[in-house]
Amino acid sequence: MLAGKHILLIVGGGIAAFKALDLVRRLRERGARVTPVLTKAGSEFVTPLSLSALSAAKVYQDLFNLTDEAEMGHIELSRAADLIVVAPATADLMAKMAGGLANDLASTLLLATDKRVLIAPSMNVRMWDHPATQRNLATLQSDGVLVVGPNEGDMACGEYGPGRMAEVLEIIEGITTALADGPLKGRHILVTSGPTHEPIDPVRYIANRSSGAQGTAIAEALAGLGADVTFVTGPADIPPPASVHAVRVQTARQMLEAVQAAPAADAAVFAAAVADWHVVNAGDSKIKKDGSGLPTLEFAENPDILATVSQMKDGRPRLVVGFAAETDDVIAHATAKRERKGCDWIVANDVSPETGIMGGTENAVTLISDAGADSWPRMTKDQVARQLAQRIAEAIT
Ligand code: C5P
Repeated sequence: MLAGKHILLIVGGGIAAFKALDLVRRLRERGARVTPVLTKAGSEFVTPLSLSALSAAKVYQDLFNLTDEAEMGHIELSRAADLIVVAPATADLMAKMAGGLANDLASTLLLATDKRVLIAPSMNVRMWDHPATQRNLATLQSDGVLVVGPNEGDMACGEYGPGRMAEVLEIIEGITTALADGPLKGRHILVTSGPTHEPIDPVRYIANRSSGAQGTAIAEALAGLGADVTFVTGPADIPPPASVHAVRVQTARQMLEAVQAAPAADAAVFAAAVADWHVVNAGDSKIKKDGSGLPTLEFAENPDILATVSQMKDGRPRLVVGFAAETDDVIAHATAKRERKGCDWIVANDVSPETGIMGGTENAVTLISDAGADSWPRMTKDQVARQLAQRIAEAIT
């Protein structure tokens, strides 16, 4: 799948830079062409000579190098590739990208490009956990930057935690998905996933048991077929896949806003377990046990995101898919829900505790459409996702 693809690889300055050499080798084994760009800090860890030997290409290092400009200007360099990969992506490079700085060759290329960018962060755990890095990460993800890793483990600096660069094969998997030429190439699909958290006060919230596993698998499967996926997720147990454009939200109202702010979609899949109500009198400060009795929470209904999108007059996605998690009369309830909300398909499943589906790895679903109810055998959530993605591809292409 990587044969003939051209990757511009920016190697940042971190101990994981040595893995970039293996990345070059393995990309070339798969038929990709790699143009390396080495930052000044990166050159403290790997030499231009080893990068150019492994890539069999010129290594670009300086912004103001007249020879390079005569050969290929930095704007052209940033656009000649099919994908830009930053590995390792240091905290500093991420900050520059998030802030739109362009004060060296790597950051200038990243700002000038019109291609997708995939980063493999690598840094000390405290630097990764720092609010500034987490802010930058959120900004980059909402700018559409794909993120692989970091992984958790022992670090070269002796500490333990998230911050280790993803393994080379994981990065290759992210690159392969990002470059996938599937039937959904050029289509934009919106997916909601995860639970929502509805605050009671700044420290307490109302939530549900959704893990986000099924929605995440669906988003990944759609991206695997080449779709451009906007993934609006509540606070889920698992991170968003690297191959999607993730937008993180907390509440149902924020989820609706994010859905409405997303670019027009060809299809939308609403897999989120959205809370039905929010607390109207949520406190600005922590509610205290001050002897004045039990607090009274007042609820108001949350917007129904699926129904809102299904009933859009302008710009409604061609295919709107909802989920119905039921504990009894699954098909009858789901069929009624499809009518009520106005969506095209409903994926119905039985979430009674004895099925082990909620929070588990398997699912048994019935797809309800104009064509009737089609019950699929029990299979893993990944298999459900791939089968659903395939059906969506058949319906909208
Ligand atoms: O009404 P109920 O919650 O059972 O409907 C489930 C379907 O509707 C799911 O697809 C869910 O993502 C969506 N939904 C929504 N907004 C809500 C409630 C549910 O998008 N407020």
